[in-house]
Amino acid sequence: MIERSRIQSLLAVEEARFVESHPQSQALFARARQSLLGGVPMPWMVRWAGPFPVFVAEGKGAHFTDVDGHDYIDFCLGDTGAMTGHAPDATIRAMAAQLHKGLTFMLPAEDAIWVGEELARRFGLPSWQIAMTATDANRFAIRLARHITRRPKVLVYNYCYHGTVDEAFIALDANGVPGPRPGNIGPPVDPTATTKVIEFNDIPALEAALAPEDVACVLAEPVMTNIGIIHPEPGYHDALRAITRRTGTLLIIDETHTLCTGPGGYTAAHGLAPDMLVIGKPIGGGMPVAAYGMSETVAAQVRERIARDEADTGGIGGTLSGNALALAATRATLEHVLTEEYYARSIPLADRFLAGVQEVIADFGVPWTVQRLGNRAEYWFRPTPARNGGEAAAAIDADLDRLMHLWALNRGILMTPFHNMALIAPQTTAADVEQHTAVFREAVAALTCT
Ligand SMILES: Cc1ncc(COP(=O)(O)O)c(C=O)c1O
Repeated sequence: MIERSRIQSLLAVEEARFVESHPQSQALFARARQSLLGGVPMPWMVRWAGPFPVFVAEGKGAHFTDVDGHDYIDFCLGDTGAMTGHAPDATIRAMAAQLHKGLTFMLPAEDAIWVGEELARRFGLPSWQIAMTATDANRFAIRLARHITRRPKVLVYNYCYHGTVDEAFIALDANGVPGPRPGNIGPPVDPTATTKVIEFNDIPALEAALAPEDVACVLAEPVMTNIGIIHPEPGYHDALRAITRRTGTLLIIDETHTLCTGPGGYTAAHGLAPDMLVIGKPIGGGMPVAAYGMSETVAAQVRERIARDEADTGGIGGTLSGNALALAATRATLEHVLTEEYYARSIPLADRFLAGVQEVIADFGVPWTVQRLGNRAEYWFRPTPARNGGEAAAAIDADLDRLMHLWALNRGILMTPFHNMALIAPQTTAADVEQHTAVFREAVAALTCT
């Protein structure tokens, strides 16, 4: 068993070690606090495990260095934004060439067609649009779903994450009552007015929620990835598709993270048939870009129901969306980086990561579990895989989480913050994975030694 006092004493040691070995980051943080709220450019960055974040010097492939000269194996990879590895050569070449030819025109160029054709080929949906972020793509897909179905509500899973989409910041409390998700900042309306929330893998709840036929769309990750990795139970996706079809509800599959499964995401790998599909994060090799695709039926309804003269004032799109630089980056990334070969190489490495963690868990008998999806693996502080978001959330242990991250960081390993996820880049090596296993083993040994 792991004693709480042990976690606290190890945390104190690791924090002191972190402060001592990161003087330049500490100095930059002190300066940053003068001009940046919380000393960081984006609020989540205050949540890194140390008393201040590591400031990056530069990154290439699966590694980066910080301003104190430390080298890190990066298993976080910009929380999937850099799943391609940092500064992927093909993407950078294409972007460099485009930089001299203009960045944004609000006019299409041939790259857009190439990208549309490639996305159609990979995901099996014929019609595509480009956005800046997966959040935006989700927001636009939801708007289209509401517009087409003329229904007010959206359905999501408890403890899902789909970006900063207002509708999705809802959760069930301990009694199963929906309300604003804890921490929801300034909700524009009570989310129960816009959204129904159920647990993942609960088919009767899905039936009941969709039966009144007031839900425009289900917005679903095909495997939950933002509260640990939670796989669908056998038959769940068939039921989801059948019930959404029967009730006239559109099914939006968000593949932003599950693109780790393969070149066509979980959708292509498992033969899903969504009405709409969202991707983002790594498709531009780190350049902000996202996309959403739709079936021919949805596309026809969109064409029919959106007046051309109002296309710019309907709440969909953005001045810089679909810009030339983003599309050049996306074309190169899809063509040369997020390839079949990449997945063929990285998935076995994620398996190796999983096996290493599994072995340590077994050797020390800690009540933890580890799951894998494609080239992503994640351990969680409960003995069995969670079946849904509520179960997974109940196992969050903020102090233990912080300790595991800081322990790794102090030994040159960056894990995805706020959970314990690792992604494999094209350049990640077996030695990188073994290094993680060794460091993880040391941490668990320190936690359990008596
Ligand atoms: C499944 C999923 N969808 C959408 C998003 C939003 O991506 P972004 O923050 O790039 O808008 C995220 C971000 O973590 C995500 O995990």
